Amino acid sequence: MNRADIIVGLQWGDEGKGKIVDNLAQKYDYVCRFAGGHNAGHTIVTDGKKYALHLIPSGVLNKDAINIVGNGVVLSPKDFIKELEQFDDIEGRIFISDKAHLILPYHAEIDQARERLKGDKAIGTTGKGIGPAYGDKITRVGHRVGELLNPQKLTKDIMSYFNINKPIFDAMGVQTPNESELLEELKGYNKELAKYIVDTTLMVWDALDSEKRVLLEGAQGTMLDIDHGTYPYVTSSTTISAGACSGLGIAPQQIGDVVGIAKAYCTRVGNGPFPSEDLGEDGNYLREKGGEYGTTTGRPRRCGWFDAVAMKHAVKLNGVSNIALMKLDVLDGMETIKVCVAYEIDGKEIDYVPYSLEGAKPIYKEFKGWKESKGVKEFNKLPQEAQDYILELEKLCGSKIGIISTSPDREDTIIRD
Ligand code: IMP
Repeated sequence: MNRADIIVGLQWGDEGKGKIVDNLAQKYDYVCRFAGGHNAGHTIVTDGKKYALHLIPSGVLNKDAINIVGNGVVLSPKDFIKELEQFDDIEGRIFISDKAHLILPYHAEIDQARERLKGDKAIGTTGKGIGPAYGDKITRVGHRVGELLNPQKLTKDIMSYFNINKPIFDAMGVQTPNESELLEELKGYNKELAKYIVDTTLMVWDALDSEKRVLLEGAQGTMLDIDHGTYPYVTSSTTISAGACSGLGIAPQQIGDVVGIAKAYCTRVGNGPFPSEDLGEDGNYLREKGGEYGTTTGRPRRCGWFDAVAMKHAVKLNGVSNIALMKLDVLDGMETIKVCVAYEIDGKEIDYVPYSLEGAKPIYKEFKGWKESKGVKEFNKLPQEAQDYILELEKLCGSKIGIISTSPDREDTIIRD
């Protein structure tokens, strides 16, 4: 029996998982998403063609790989169908778990209404309906992808859900379709998606039992994890490696390597604490040079320095066996590079992630910058200062940094050992 390897984000999402998953996906037979929804997103350029992926696993660009959308995902049929349109040879290469939960348009409306009503306490969600869909799942009033196979029954069930919630929906200004509109919508989804809906748990078990190479692809990042992130400024799923087990139905003993993806600096979108945020010139420099604007929402990302305290936390939580450090070249040309090595909270210095990061002030260690790392393909060809920076990050985070990316191109990647 083979073990499945996992890729997870170690910061607040947008670490550049796309490049690494795309790269690794070429070596795997199965690529499986285990959490999140179309709040995630990355663009992959292959053979001059640009693909925007939100829900479809990155293995789709490897024609020989099978792609699975696991039960831990929340799936918007409308957005998934739109995403599928980018590919004309996808049948038989992608499967959706019948146990994944549905995101329907009313979930997005509820999400946006809640954010509006929260005012300055808003989470800064993507507005895609992620929280309400996971909320319905946990309160056991959600609907699963498997129910799309019987649109008539699903329509009746959703109409009764609308009736129960009518006073709340009216108060929030949430619009819902009438019965015939809903039936039409669901029949359309059924027509497009029925052929992809299967029991993916059995598929993954079969794949592992027959020695196939299986890659599990995470979404968002560790600091957005519903339990271990900066709650309530988090997403609504288990983004850490443990989520791969429940989100696909794989036992812990069947997990192999966990590759954690981190940027050489740090970004976050949405609200919530970000101790190493730089609101000055350096933050702006990182945003412009790193192209730090959201792929899903286009929002400018908040930028700052590598947070080694949060990274140590993420390495432990995920059981990271290897870090891929992305976008090293974005730091090229900076005179001084800072790394957050501790927090000061209420006058006390700590070196772990506490209950809340609200009000935490960063304590920095400074590093001398370097001129150019862009395009370098071997570790010992990097400027000495960049090598020193990486070796020190390894010590601070307690993990090997085995992969270093020095430009968006597939080839500009250093593989150590
Ligand atoms: P939601 O997942 O849309 O509910 O948003 C909750 C929080 O997670 C917000 O701060 C979002 O900005 C953040 N978030 C969700 N998806 C991503 C992502 O793919 N990258 C970065 N941040 C994300």
